[in-house]
Amino acid sequence: MKNPKPYGLNELREMFLSFFETKGHLRLPSFSLIPQNDASLLLINSGMAPMKPWFTGEQEPPRRRVCTCQKCIRTGDIENIGHTARHGTYFEMLGNFSFGDYFKKEAIAWSWEFLTSPEWVGLDPDRLYPSVYQDDDEAFEIWNKQIGIPAERIFRFGKEDNFWEHGSGPCGPCSEIYYDRGPEYGCGKPGCTVGCDCDRYMEVWNNVFSQFDNDGEGHYTELKQKNIDTGMGLERLACVCQGVDSLFDVDTVMNITNKVTEITGASYGQSREKDVSLRVITDHIRSSTFMICDGVLPSNEGRGYVLRRLLRRAARHGKLLGVNEPFLYQVCDTVIHENEGHYPELRERQDYITKVIRVEEENFAKTIDGGLKIFNEMLEDHKAKGEKTFSGADAFKLYDTYGFPIDLTLEMVAEQGMKLDEKEFHKQMEEQRQRARKAREALGDLGWAGVEFGKEVPASEFVGYDHTTFEGAKVVALVVENEQAEELMPGVEGIVVLDKTPFYAEMGGQTADHGVITADGVSFTVTDVQKNKGGKYMHYGKLTQGVLKLGDTVSAAIDTTRRKAVMRAHSATHLLDKALRAVLGDHVHQAGSLVEPDRLRFDFTHFSAMTPEELGKVSSEVNRAILEGYDIHTDVLPIEEAKKKGAIALFGEKYGDTVRVVDMGEGYSVEFCGGTHLDNTAKVGVFHISSEFSVASGVRRIEATTGRASLELMSRNQEMLFQAAAALKAKPSELRERAEAVMGEVKQLHQMVEKFKAKDALGEAERIMFGAHEVGGLKVLTATVPDADAARLRTMGDMLRDKDPKVVAVLAAVNGGKITFLAVCGKEAVGKGIKAGDIIKQVSAIAGGSGGGKPDSAMGGGKDPLMVDNALAMVDNFVSMKLKG
Ligand code: ALA
Repeated sequence: MKNPKPYGLNELREMFLSFFETKGHLRLPSFSLIPQNDASLLLINSGMAPMKPWFTGEQEPPRRRVCTCQKCIRTGDIENIGHTARHGTYFEMLGNFSFGDYFKKEAIAWSWEFLTSPEWVGLDPDRLYPSVYQDDDEAFEIWNKQIGIPAERIFRFGKEDNFWEHGSGPCGPCSEIYYDRGPEYGCGKPGCTVGCDCDRYMEVWNNVFSQFDNDGEGHYTELKQKNIDTGMGLERLACVCQGVDSLFDVDTVMNITNKVTEITGASYGQSREKDVSLRVITDHIRSSTFMICDGVLPSNEGRGYVLRRLLRRAARHGKLLGVNEPFLYQVCDTVIHENEGHYPELRERQDYITKVIRVEEENFAKTIDGGLKIFNEMLEDHKAKGEKTFSGADAFKLYDTYGFPIDLTLEMVAEQGMKLDEKEFHKQMEEQRQRARKAREALGDLGWAGVEFGKEVPASEFVGYDHTTFEGAKVVALVVENEQAEELMPGVEGIVVLDKTPFYAEMGGQTADHGVITADGVSFTVTDVQKNKGGKYMHYGKLTQGVLKLGDTVSAAIDTTRRKAVMRAHSATHLLDKALRAVLGDHVHQAGSLVEPDRLRFDFTHFSAMTPEELGKVSSEVNRAILEGYDIHTDVLPIEEAKKKGAIALFGEKYGDTVRVVDMGEGYSVEFCGGTHLDNTAKVGVFHISSEFSVASGVRRIEATTGRASLELMSRNQEMLFQAAAALKAKPSELRERAEAVMGEVKQLHQMVEKFKAKDALGEAERIMFGAHEVGGLKVLTATVPDADAARLRTMGDMLRDKDPKVVAVLAAVNGGKITFLAVCGKEAVGKGIKAGDIIKQVSAIAGGSGGGKPDSAMGGGKDPLMVDNALAMVDNFVSMKLKG
């Protein structure tokens, strides 16, 4: 048997793509891991997934033959990844695709040629076995007659093995190619052959004859065109070519493991546990690096949560290997180094990726130790009770308080040979979701669910870029109480849909326009505008006059003062984005924004609080651009042209073929944007940053004002300044000095008062001392001290006690209805068995309270002021009784 050449993974990728270029295919770069316009998928999991519209014929592909190497993520059961060497969450899929062009004959022939030709991969044909769908005689014939594979080497399998589909979308029967890795990989059982579950026969290539569309509920319809969708795991191919045991032994992947080894000191092959941890870390850091590069940030939802689970699980396995500080971010560089040939964006975003990972590691590090401790306590508890099932409520607590994703807890529980009550965990999760939903509802945050308008109601045309008023608009739909209506009565709230409108609907962070819709004797006040999925502009508001009917012709006018203020804030947002990048660096990306009249909120990716200096720089750069009076132009351009102009697109956002571009100062700031803008930056007026803070890990928020709001703020501040100056009897320019002087004076006065108080207390203590009388050789004294608080009582008590070792003193202070008692006993008194703590218990009890303390000093309280004298009167008695023993 010939041995395949040990091609490297990067070499094989290039070989595959150039092979299919020689067969007339267009080579495309990998698509983002984030699916675009496909709610059925969280992450791209196969080469064909981003191309569904080309398979269905919904969209025209750039060429009928395409080949790619697609980054993919599959996260079936994360907690098992690493325990075997077979699977990882991240892999690359090589694929050649035909959209209604070539079909089975070519696809099969080319896959065979690529794998077996000595000019290409050159695998030994005797080790390869094709399989076909059981009824697919056509594919069988092609393998048998055209390629010349003997019939007994071609396997027919059922739907389970040879019908490819993944969720909804294009699917079809398939023909796979298996590689025999040799008996040493086999299970050795009789009947072990192609299709056996063991590691001997490995599927390397899948040719899918993609001719059906699955609607996700098991209904298949024939596609308009017959397609080819193929997939070959790049790592698997590399495994075969390099003659290694698993994907973790493939050259580029092993280099990542080596880096982890270098940091952790654990080496591969040392022990089963260490191998599991090394595989987990290696696989998860690959996935995470690529996900972050494509714009996923760790969070508690959707893709962000997948990322968080991967990073946290990897961090914990780092801990198992004895690494107690963040380290994953250091592995990133190796992942980038091994992959940048095909994915140059990795290097471009290296700083950003590294920071996101580091911040997540640091955040987790803050709670992981506490969480592990609690986990161990919970475990002990379960074990002590002889329980074999770890409680779902405990798992939820670990999730909720310590950020332990469920698969992490599952894995830790399994390591202890226990099961986890997942049902209870999910129940508690659901309850928490309900609580959060209720809270959002209470805040009115869920918005209006939407009415089905049907196809008869056309999409509205927005004319508000050029008009603030539009005459002759038509009412195409009315809604009252969530039902379509024929007319709207005065005083009633409802929704008006127009065919054309100058009203901007809330979108891209910009708030909706307000205004009025009028006709003869009719007036409808608009307080919100939302665009629904069908592109209909829904004007929310109230009819204040007349009756508005379906089909009426109306005039629509927006509140221009409000709109101008919104435009000021929106144009300022673009200037802010620009200034932030200039001051902080290119890792800054817009993560969200809210644009309201003269107020804006801008969320962006950045990893530390901005310093006052940075904020100052950003603010003055924005104000500089305003004073520069840059012209603002908007243009609708083909997307490629817009990109050439350097327009900034939103991270991970999908744009159509043409985009609207807003340009300020001939290229100073160029952004994709559908919002309404000023025609000159000078009209922003004064830009003022009011706050900067963190909203999520790695995301900061700036709140700022423009125009009128800034002016109002300034005049309010000015007014405050004058009032404060007047109160301090100073000129505004001397305010600071004066305030400091006054504070200094206050401090001095305070110190003086304290001194006087001490002196006064001493005087009072001396006076009280005169009232002392002798009981059994001790000096007993009791007194009610007017206007004293607990601190003053203590000072006096200390003085009395220190004056004479024979002293037994009980002081009382009455404030409102509350009584405070203090008892002190000098050394000699204590030596004779008189303890302040005992006295205070009795005294307080008489006045309806309680107390306690040490032998030489104790405090207590009481509630009944009328009993104070009685309480003090018992002290003599107490002392003499005690002395008598
Ligand atoms: N789409 C097919 C797969 O993922 C080729 O296996």
